[in-house]
Amino acid sequence: MCGIIGIVGKSSAQPSIIEALEKLEYRGYDSSGIATVSDNSIIRRRAVGKLSSLKELLNKKPIKGEIGIGHTRWATHGAPSLENAHPHKVGKVALVHNGIIENFHELRSQLISEGQTFVSDTDTEVIASFCSKLLESGMSPDEAVVNTLNNLEGAFALCFIFEDYDNILIAARKGSPLVVGWGSGEMFVGSDAIALASLTNQLTYVGEANYVVLSNNEAKFFDFQKKEITPEKVFINSESVLISKNGYRHFMHKEINEQPSVISYALGSYTGSDRKKITLPSQLPNFSEMDRITMTACGTAFFACNVAKYWFEKISELPVDIDIASEYRYREPIFSKSTGAIVVSQSGETADTLAALRFAKNKAMQTVAVVNSENSTMAREADIIMPIRAGVEVGVASTKAFTCQLVALASLVLDAARQRKKISSSEEEEFIEHLFTLPRLINEVLLKENEIINICSELAKAQDILFIARGSLYPLALEGALKLKEISYIHAEGYAAGELKHGPIALIDNRVPVICFAPSNILYEKTVSNIHEVIARGGKVLLVSDRKGLKDFSGDVWASFEMPECDSFISPILYALPAQLLAYYSAIEKGTDVDQPRNLAKSVTVE
Ligand code: M6R
Repeated sequence: MCGIIGIVGKSSAQPSIIEALEKLEYRGYDSSGIATVSDNSIIRRRAVGKLSSLKELLNKKPIKGEIGIGHTRWATHGAPSLENAHPHKVGKVALVHNGIIENFHELRSQLISEGQTFVSDTDTEVIASFCSKLLESGMSPDEAVVNTLNNLEGAFALCFIFEDYDNILIAARKGSPLVVGWGSGEMFVGSDAIALASLTNQLTYVGEANYVVLSNNEAKFFDFQKKEITPEKVFINSESVLISKNGYRHFMHKEINEQPSVISYALGSYTGSDRKKITLPSQLPNFSEMDRITMTACGTAFFACNVAKYWFEKISELPVDIDIASEYRYREPIFSKSTGAIVVSQSGETADTLAALRFAKNKAMQTVAVVNSENSTMAREADIIMPIRAGVEVGVASTKAFTCQLVALASLVLDAARQRKKISSSEEEEFIEHLFTLPRLINEVLLKENEIINICSELAKAQDILFIARGSLYPLALEGALKLKEISYIHAEGYAAGELKHGPIALIDNRVPVICFAPSNILYEKTVSNIHEVIARGGKVLLVSDRKGLKDFSGDVWASFEMPECDSFISPILYALPAQLLAYYSAIEKGTDVDQPRNLAKSVTVE
């Protein structure tokens, strides 16, 4: 989940590398670095912290060279430090790496026993050292790289440059994403299409366990046995991946505010002009023949699966197992030939979710990838893609992708229910109408941001916060807690409201705010009982409910927030808004780095 970039250019590589790294900073921001080849030597600049530190350094000490590599790091092996920052250089080779080398201890010990020394704690320096040894033995760059690749275990995307070669860059991937960009008289390679969007709109996705040799006018692709291959070129709409804050202070705030429009767009694309029937991509999952569904994802996307389980089971009468992707394939799940597998991922690159998808494919399950990035590895490997159409999401905290995942999953649920003859066409139409009320209702919540700001001025003083809810809103309690921890660093946990009394209620006192999502639905009364249990123990409750829910509540809450009334089918989507805004404004109150919170990265491509 680092970002890598390589350029074989026709003018100074530094500005384009920095521009690409700006786009890649969402993948990691512990340190960054750049290396070029100029006058037969490799020059490097590296800096700890955000990309701005590297830019300052380069302002003072720019580097020459038309061929170069760049990196933005999310630390795996070794703390964020100058020594551990990429590019790593040993002898006549420098490289950048995204991934984890699992056999690096063995390789490192072997190299030490042969007299090599190391200056960093990283697995990457081991790759550089191994490759350098082979170059010194007389191998060409191509031979040395292939030999190195065949000795690595784990996941990697790599870019190599060589001291005596100012027109060759070699890049390789196994497990981590990599894309080549075609320019005119220049070639690019990077972690994703976003990094290359301002450089070119012609891309070739590097295949699994393939490498590519780039010069400034061609790219030759090979597998690790050196067999040449010819992957296809794709053309992207660069504007669709170019990103800006559009006047907002943070990407997260912009993305929260984009939800009415992206949901409307996504829904339009799933329903056609008459809005009466869900019309999904041409190849549909065959839900009528499925006996159950297994859903896997990580983080926020996993909470979207939690909500979908309620919908699939209630509306389509299809049993659903949900698993955290990093656990799924290790628990020996039970399935049959008729089990369908759905993975959900904003990036489509999350290593654990990708591994879960491959596990399901190996077991011959029909696989569906619910993804935002339609060119991602998951999108390319799954049998069926369900695009969520949220547009590029930059803020590390997922917001519009979550609500769009829910809208996409809700549409899949309706499609499944129709195929399985569990709903009539008029019922389907009614569900669709409810979904179409979302943009308006979300706008209504957004108009009340000031109330959330007031609440957060007090809320952000807490050290611990609990979120509670019941039924299909319970995953929103989990999501609210994750969002808050992630960007405000306040400790928070989500619980099923009825579960409090089995332990967590011992935490309650007047310093622990309890945020309760309780729309006036069939579970309202039961949730209210749980709120009273909290109040009776001196707890301070923020009640988030609709007008009826707030009116019917008798008791002393610390604060309340009124939500628009909505059908209970869509309430898990609408209640994402207060969860997001409470986290956002608590983070603002605490002065944290909202878009790039500490220790995190947007796309987690390591297991
Ligand atoms: O790209 P993905 O949806 O697969 O990412 C999964 C999680 O890493 C992600 O949702 C993470 O939990 C977010 N930072 C939460 O806001």
